[in-house]
Amino acid sequence: MEYMIDQLGHRGGTYIEPFAGGAGIAMELLLRNVISRIVINDYDKAVWSFWKAILTETDRFVEEIRTVPLTVDEWQKQHEILVTKNDKYSFELGFAAFYLNRTNRSGIIKGGVIGGQEQAKDWKMDVRFKREELVTRIQRIAARKKDIKLYNKDVNSFIKNYVPLYEENALIYFDPPYFRKGQQLYMNFFNYKDHVRIEQEIREHVNCDWIITYDYEPQIEEIYHNYNLRLYDLNYSVSTKRKANELMIFKDGIIIPPDEELNSKKINIHIRPLSLVD
Ligand SMILES: C[S@@+](CC[C@H](N)C(=O)[O-])C[C@H]1O[C@@H](n2cnc3c(N)ncnc32)[C@H](O)[C@@H]1O
Repeated sequence: MEYMIDQLGHRGGTYIEPFAGGAGIAMELLLRNVISRIVINDYDKAVWSFWKAILTETDRFVEEIRTVPLTVDEWQKQHEILVTKNDKYSFELGFAAFYLNRTNRSGIIKGGVIGGQEQAKDWKMDVRFKREELVTRIQRIAARKKDIKLYNKDVNSFIKNYVPLYEENALIYFDPPYFRKGQQLYMNFFNYKDHVRIEQEIREHVNCDWIITYDYEPQIEEIYHNYNLRLYDLNYSVSTKRKANELMIFKDGIIIPPDEELNSKKINIHIRPLSLVD
């Protein structure tokens, strides 16, 4: 992503994620000062509450990380909050999302607890809950809160009403819910029409640079057949650890990064034009 930002001349500019989730790339770019501001949006109340809680109730969040029990009873309590109190902002909901993200298999909110209910396996639920490391990361992020704009809008409203406020010297990275796996992985999911609609919203309303990634599906390729598309082989897939293909869609005129550059990011084994795909 840093390569793309440089190629497009957006170093020091704004980086926007309309489907932010854990916003890993966005935070990395901000903390390393590759860009000076990030705009993150997620429609899921739990995901949004997490970001809002760490930015507005940082000390409370840190205290909670340091003291929350790492037990199956607590996991059940947090799970209950996530599934029953997820219709509006609360600190508790934000923390529950974080807790489950850290203690669930694959970090996915709907996955089961690491080590199972018996906690009898080698990997137990605390394996990804390194309290002080998490505290440091949260504090580093919260220290940059004036450079983080946070929204909880449906993506269509976000594109139409909020993206225009930040388009100057900006790159948008769309990472939509997966076409197929979306239903299992995240709380909100998209159907075919929603995917079609994003393309339309982008075409009609987005003026700055953008890129999209998708798990490869012929329907998605069809929706974006007028654009620059590249298919990547990934050796990693979050749920199955099987080989997966990922489609990248680029705005017209964007310089597509050379193979070596993508290989160096480690996720991409190689790149080939779609026409060569069998
Ligand atoms: C594939 S994930 C993004 C993963 C993210 N890039 C990361 O690093 O964690 C898709 C995200 O889109 C969010 N989402 C689902 N439907 C949405 C909608 N209609 N508008 C905005 N965000 C939505 C989900 O809550 C989820 O966090």
